[in-house]
Amino acid sequence: MQQNEKWEAACDAADFDGEEMMECRAGERDVLLVRLGDRIVACPAICPHLEERLAFGFADGNVLTCSKHLWQWDLDTGDPMGVAEKRLAVAPVRIENGKIFVDTGPLACGDH
Ligand code: FES
Repeated sequence: MQQNEKWEAACDAADFDGEEMMECRAGERDVLLVRLGDRIVACPAICPHLEERLAFGFADGNVLTCSKHLWQWDLDTGDPMGVAEKRLAVAPVRIENGKIFVDTGPLACGDH
């Protein structure tokens, strides 16, 4: 286990079946789950720009776009793209016994 890992239960995996993006609660945080091909990542539910819900945006490949001012991020790295001026914290996700778990450790680094 790497330092700062903090795996927390989120939703049932069945709830995310067939979904591309879904907000849920992981521990004390609201997160957005995003399906990237055969894997899932998580990021904060709220945009780091002006607090729009990222669930209103869209994901295309590994690029997440906020609906409000079209900031974009690479969901593999959290790096900003285009006009985005801030990184997006991205966290790994795993499924165990039908439950989705999010490592909220990386998300804590993005708290402001
Ligand atoms: S609120 Fe998300 S880009 Fe401005």
